[in-house]
Amino acid sequence: MAKLVTYAELKEHSNKNSLYILLHEKVYDVTKFIDEHPGGDEVILAEASRDATEAFEDVGHSDEARALLKDMLVGDFEKTDELKTKGPYSSSGSSHAVNTAVQQGSNAMYFVPLAMLGAYFAWRYYTSGSI
Ligand code: HEM
Repeated sequence: MAKLVTYAELKEHSNKNSLYILLHEKVYDVTKFIDEHPGGDEVILAEASRDATEAFEDVGHSDEARALLKDMLVGDFEKTDELKTKGPYSSSGSSHAVNTAVQQGSNAMYFVPLAMLGAYFAWRYYTSGSI
């Protein structure tokens, strides 16, 4: 079975001494390759700790470039909410705003039933005297 690489591991290997790159939900150890990369080391380093798929595909890498990947494979990436590997929020700055919105939403989820409970007891209190 293929090794599962967590987001924490991906983040640990995010510098020139040890660099993992996430492409198509698979993680590659490109540490030895970065110095040989025809596109330079900086472009690859810029993709550390995030999903590099879009950047890699935008360049239109050749089949030769893709063939190099199989020797660098570490394992499959363990999907996580911390890093959306697909969808409109992948590697964009808006994910924080989305997370905040979701958090605010869940606060409301607690507040609404509590408010209803409070209203119920208030109603009982006011009506109990008149029976
Ligand atoms: C980690 C996996 C990667 C491998 C194995 C790889 C390999 C290669 C290879 C072999 C080339 C030569 C042209 C070709 O055969 O397509 C190339 C070019 C290039 N790569 Fe990558 N690359 C990787 C990741 C990236 C990433 C993440 C970027 C980010 C943008 C990138 C940007 C470029 C650019 C801009 C060129 C064109 C260089 C030029 O023609 O001047 N590469 N890459």
